[in-house]
Amino acid sequence: MKKVLVTGANKGIGYEVVRQLAEQGFFVYLGSRDQKKGQAAVDQLRASGAANVEALTIDVASADSVTAAAAELMAKTDRLDVLINNAAISGSKPQELSAIDITQLKELFDTNFFGAIQTTQAMLPLLEKADQPVILNVSSELGSLTMQTSENRNPNWSNFYAYGSTKTAMNAFTILLAHEFKGSKFTVNSVTPGFTATDLNGFTGFKTPAQGAEPIVKAAIESAGGPTGKFFQAGGEVPW
Ligand SMILES: NC(=O)c1ccc[n+]([C@@H]2O[C@H](COP(=O)([O-])OP(=O)(O)OC[C@H]3O[C@@H](n4cnc5c(N)ncnc54)[C@H](OP(=O)(O)O)[C@@H]3O)[C@@H](O)[C@H]2O)c1
Repeated sequence: MKKVLVTGANKGIGYEVVRQLAEQGFFVYLGSRDQKKGQAAVDQLRASGAANVEALTIDVASADSVTAAAAELMAKTDRLDVLINNAAISGSKPQELSAIDITQLKELFDTNFFGAIQTTQAMLPLLEKADQPVILNVSSELGSLTMQTSENRNPNWSNFYAYGSTKTAMNAFTILLAHEFKGSKFTVNSVTPGFTATDLNGFTGFKTPAQGAEPIVKAAIESAGGPTGKFFQAGGEVPW
């Protein structure tokens, strides 16, 4: 049975990714920065029939928490097949880069960018034990420089300038880690769920969390031994 860790999975898209991967036969570690929220999410999933789900407390913005989570996981399993760096915050508004408070900008990067990198680094020893390890970074259309410079750019994206810049950085992490691991058994990809109704955007998205989870689950499964250094969305690739 393949084993996967999904960070930030006590609610929203991550929760649905856990549910769908468990349905697909994975053993899923449900990452949550709050132990009680993580256990409540696992209890809810188990009550609905998902047996192979376990909570793991991990605050991706805290080096100590990430180190402790990796140690806990190493005591539970001999390998990790898939890491899904899903945890993120969108930040308060306004967030135009001409005026944003630098402390707020750093908080966004601490979770969305540095959090994904330090989680990946901590989980590498377990990922290396898998036959076809997968690192999947949950990004956003707002991180695509091609889409940001398109004539058809969505004007509503202005509300999310700082958040978008963290996802552009995350995409660079995907590309450069894929280069670093080229020729190895690792694959490293970005994926976007699309605009989904969750806490992150005040539930304004068009998709349900279950629909948003679908391209992430697909990419998690198809990345094993497959393409690397790509940016996926439902139905295909996103331009960088
Ligand atoms: N919703 C969209 O339209 C959309 C579009 C494109 C990309 N995305 C991406 O999809 C992913 C999931 O977002 P979502 O829409 O499901 O948002 P969400 O409902 O707000 O869920 C975010 C999750 O991340 C967790 N989290 C935040 N900071 C964390 C930290 N420091 N350590 C660990 N967990 C942390 C939250 O935990 P708490 O409950 O403790 O806050 C929550 O479980 C994110 O990467 C987001 O950027 C979303």
